[in-house]
Amino acid sequence: MITGVAGFIGFHVAKRLLASGLEVFGIDSMNGYYSTQIKQDRLELLKRFANFSFSSINICQRNDLESLFAANPFDLVIHLAAQAGVRYSLDAPHKYAESNLMGFVNVIEACRQQGVTRFLFASSSSVYGNQEGGVFSEDGFTDAPESLYAATKKANELIAHSYSKQFGMQTIGLRFFSVYGPWGRPDMAYFSFTKKILKGETIPVFNKGEMVRDFTYIDDIVAGVHQLIDRLDHLSSYRIYNLGNNHPVKIMDFIRALEAAIGQKAKIEYLPMQAGDVIFTCAAISAAQRDFGYNPKCSIETGLKYFVTWHLKYFKTEILLPNI
Ligand SMILES: NC(=O)c1ccc[n+]([C@@H]2O[C@H](COP(=O)([O-])OP(=O)(O)OC[C@H]3O[C@@H](n4cnc5c(N)ncnc54)[C@H](O)[C@@H]3O)[C@@H](O)[C@H]2O)c1
Repeated sequence: MITGVAGFIGFHVAKRLLASGLEVFGIDSMNGYYSTQIKQDRLELLKRFANFSFSSINICQRNDLESLFAANPFDLVIHLAAQAGVRYSLDAPHKYAESNLMGFVNVIEACRQQGVTRFLFASSSSVYGNQEGGVFSEDGFTDAPESLYAATKKANELIAHSYSKQFGMQTIGLRFFSVYGPWGRPDMAYFSFTKKILKGETIPVFNKGEMVRDFTYIDDIVAGVHQLIDRLDHLSSYRIYNLGNNHPVKIMDFIRALEAAIGQKAKIEYLPMQAGDVIFTCAAISAAQRDFGYNPKCSIETGLKYFVTWHLKYFKTEILLPNI
């Protein structure tokens, strides 16, 4: 069972598991945080698989969730539904409290009630807060979140830990690091930059471009989740793993790679640092490598080419005048 199945990561994880022959039940509220069209289109692709079922459920609606769990004996829950986005948590804090705190408890509690003992969930690199330089390892400091979003993700880890301790559930949290790729999230910078560069519009670059991110290509994440599922029987009852690329990229190098993939130069407006943002991220991935063979392979140059190719096709854009 996958929550947030019409979302970017949920869609890709579901597609991979369906293709491998597993039965997947997906739920999603199809909320309008970003284009519901792209969520519908992802769902249409998943519905082509005979082993896929879907129900439109909001995880904040406890009764709906409990009825669903009572009627379906799930073996494993992959909980990805959440209000994502760091910056939006300044504008709409209650959405984060509802989906990421109440919704999270509703899902993990429905698992407990129905005896679902295996629970994977999405955490985030944002739990590391603003630590400059150095590689973030899972046992490092995570007690100074910069945003409510990050605080809810840290809370998820603690709640999962308590369920693991009290009820013997296996709960595993995955700290994703800036995931990008085809069918990605329109609210993320690489997506909106691509749209703007193609239209000849100016892109906003924060903190004078002096930021570094460990961008991780979606197929590497999906492979990691699949490998993890295969190894669950060998893992302990509570674990947190980083799923990143371990190759941090400066934002300006990232923009250069995007320009090269599009074949157009970006017009840039430099703006101050945004509240809630962090300067640097880089995942230590040795735990995931050791425990389930996680091995990210895709470079930013290649990954952005795949993304731009998808973007042009999906939005049926023609590039008329390549200028670099
Ligand atoms: N994409 C990244 O770079 C990244 C990085 C770190 C963590 N994460 C986490 O990974 C998970 C998946 O992220 P994503 O990028 O696919 O985001 P996404 O927004 O594309 O997917 C989340 C999905 O959950 C659904 N959803 C939200 N609230 C819901 C609710 N109350 N009930 C039911 N469905 C609901 C949304 O409609 C959406 O389809 C999230 O938990 C996110 O916080 C993502």
